[in-house]
Amino acid sequence: MQLFNLLATFCTALFAAQSQLDSVRDAFYDAKIVPDVLPSFDPTLEIYVEFLKASVIKPGAELSMNQTDTFPQFVLKSSRQTDMLKKYVVTMVDPDAYYPSDPSVSQVRHYLGANLTVDGVGRFWTTPITNLTGPVTDWMPPSPPDDSDPHRYVVLVYQQPPDFTLDGIKPPDFTLDGIKPHLNSTSDRMHFNATSDRMHFNISSFASAVGLRGPVGGTYFLTGADSGAVVGR
Ligand SMILES: *[C@@H]1O[C@H](CO)[C@@H](O)[C@H](O)[C@H]1NC(C)=O
Ligand SMILES: *[C@@H]1O[C@H](CO)[C@@H](O)[C@H](O)[C@H]1NC(C)=O
Ligand SMILES: *[C@@H]1O[C@H](CO)[C@@H](O)[C@H](O)[C@H]1NC(C)=O
Ligand SMILES: *[C@@H]1O[C@H](CO)[C@@H](O)[C@H](O)[C@H]1NC(C)=O
Ligand SMILES: *[C@@H]1O[C@H](CO)[C@@H](O)[C@H](O)[C@H]1NC(C)=O
Ligand SMILES: *[C@@H]1O[C@H](CO)[C@@H](O)[C@H](O)[C@H]1NC(C)=O
Repeated sequence: MQLFNLLATFCTALFAAQSQLDSVRDAFYDAKIVPDVLPSFDPTLEIYVEFLKASVIKPGAELSMNQTDTFPQFVLKSSRQTDMLKKYVVTMVDPDAYYPSDPSVSQVRHYLGANLTVDGVGRFWTTPITNLTGPVTDWMPPSPPDDSDPHRYVVLVYQQPPDFTLDGIKPPDFTLDGIKPHLNSTSDRMHFNATSDRMHFNISSFASAVGLRGPVGGTYFLTGADSGAVVGR
């Protein structure tokens, strides 16, 4: 009987986890993040974004600039222990710059960090991940223009391949938006580093160029200029 109860609890938890993932996926399609940012999305883990002054638990939270002005803590939620042992690349992009109606400089890369992994003992199924090394692209807080509708800030988590490096990536045979690959010889390398342009970025082509797997998780929030922003969950 006890075992049955335990199993029932476990199955209920798994079912709840899957329905959460389904709602995250649906939120990405509803908000047109697919296809604006990703060709498709089928997350296998959840990611929460915890700012000092607010959290993004469910996708679509409306946060003020004030609430998002500090580098957040990223928190993974997964029912698979193995997910907690991996390294991740986490990024945040804005596909709505300067304006949702005119995203001519999008995507803007607000953050790109590699080597994020579980730090110490995790909470049950829910674990903060921290970076073991400095960011590739340092955190830049949301700062939409005063006269803009709120922008979507899309946080994506990719599984990091074991040999992942951005030093001398072999260029792929397609053009990478926002990065200037030298494509002529195999010894030529694509240079991508902290000084690379934040604008005109394309996370999908970047991810496939550097061999990232996923995104395995994601979330997003909306931030407008503080005069007009709504605070809520
Ligand atoms: C940000 O919000 C806090 C309250 O959460 C407030 O005390 C502070 O003055 C605000 N800062 C700015 C710059 O608006
Ligand atoms: C982790 O990233 C933060 C934010 O970019 C940075 O300030 C910090 O130095 C990084 N930690 C390490 C150990 O490099
Ligand atoms: C990840 O960490 C390793 C050291 O453990 C470092 O050599 C590598 O440059 C880091 N990768 C990135 C993309 O920062
Ligand atoms: C690469 O090759 C093309 C022609 O195939 C040439 O036009 C271009 O100048 C070359 N670029 C470099 C950087 O050598
Ligand atoms: C970044 O890459 C560019 C080439 O795209 C290179 O000229 C520059 O020295 C690199 N900067 C650093 C800090 O590695
Ligand atoms: C990003 O690049 C992919 C090809 O890798 C392309 O299909 C897609 O349209 C690009 N997205 C944007 C917003 O330009």
